[in-house]
Amino acid sequence: MKAIELKNGVYWVGAVDWAVRDFHGYVTPKGTTYNNYLIVDDEITLLDTVKYNFADVTIKNIKNIVEPSKIRHLVINHIENDHASSLDKIMQLTPNATLYMTEKGKKGLERFFDISKWNIKTVKTGDTLNIGKRTLLFIETPMLHWPDSMMTYIKEEKILISQDAFGQHIASAARFDDEYCTCESMAELEDGVVDYYANILMPFGQLIKNKIADMQKMGLDIEMIAPDHGIIWRANPQRVLQTYIDMASGAARPRAVIIYDTMWHSTEEMTLPITKGIRDVGLESKVIKLRATPMSIAIKEFWEARGCLIGTPTLNNIMYPSVAEFLTHLRGLRPKNRIMGAFGSYGWGGGAVKEAYENFKKMGLEIFEPGLQILYKPSAEDEAKCYDFGKEFAKKLKEYHQKF
Ligand code: FEO
Repeated sequence: MKAIELKNGVYWVGAVDWAVRDFHGYVTPKGTTYNNYLIVDDEITLLDTVKYNFADVTIKNIKNIVEPSKIRHLVINHIENDHASSLDKIMQLTPNATLYMTEKGKKGLERFFDISKWNIKTVKTGDTLNIGKRTLLFIETPMLHWPDSMMTYIKEEKILISQDAFGQHIASAARFDDEYCTCESMAELEDGVVDYYANILMPFGQLIKNKIADMQKMGLDIEMIAPDHGIIWRANPQRVLQTYIDMASGAARPRAVIIYDTMWHSTEEMTLPITKGIRDVGLESKVIKLRATPMSIAIKEFWEARGCLIGTPTLNNIMYPSVAEFLTHLRGLRPKNRIMGAFGSYGWGGGAVKEAYENFKKMGLEIFEPGLQILYKPSAEDEAKCYDFGKEFAKKLKEYHQKF
């Protein structure tokens, strides 16, 4: 098979994982790729590896271009298992190669491998490595999204190897955005970017803005962004940079998402009149039932909307378990710039809606109060209350959205 070249002498040598559907708990209906890159220069350099079960695939791809024993330098931008867990197999083929990673990368890597015989150099932002005709510039990106994370900029080629950032979980025969968009739509590709950001990078918005600003100050001229997952951005890398800046700055659609669960359908019955109320203020809404929806999809839908209503029945005086799980997961993602409200049915004591609001307060989100509780099953009068609740929430959401 013909090697896939990003630019003259810079190759993709990664693996396509068509079948993965559960990526550490994150659903990946389109699969993913583990991208790594080989530079053929005076000193042959490999940037990143792949997930352990694809080690043979990347080795075969490398062999298509050069003998792996000729690799002199190995850059480890990120030590998470999907990128570094085949490192030992690569090192068996080129044991004298020098590895480059951050100090935190080294500390983490020694928990996974016996690194005592490996020649490791730790690098910081601004450090460079000359490999012949090309120079690699290292840029630390701590907590984007692990402490060890960094990116590598190939100066002469103007390629940013961006590790997880700007990636998407998309398996495809296409490697580049212009190829992907001839058979699939740009909207689908952007959807993959938002999905990835919401589930992996949501907590780090401010860091992302700062890091992109730092790179702009460094004057990096970026012609191509090559992430470690999914499609490589060569047609318009500025577009994905801007998408990240927008998301990190709090961009969201002026719409509501209702995320709920239900025991005997009473909370579920509340959703329809609520959506009518929202619609009559001129906003669209989406409705997500938690037990019918994987968590990562619910998180993405939450992230895309400016406002969210949580629907939860009361069970044993607290929130329904799937709703509690969702809010716990969401709290870890440290969402910002969203307005929240809650509703639900109860039989006697109630308590779930109150607990949902306590969660919103812990997350520091904008709050729409009061919540709405319905006894047992919504009556026609209750449905009218639901409609008004939806309408008032949508008015507040519209007002709040003006701030962005
Ligand atoms: Fe794709 Fe953080 O690993």
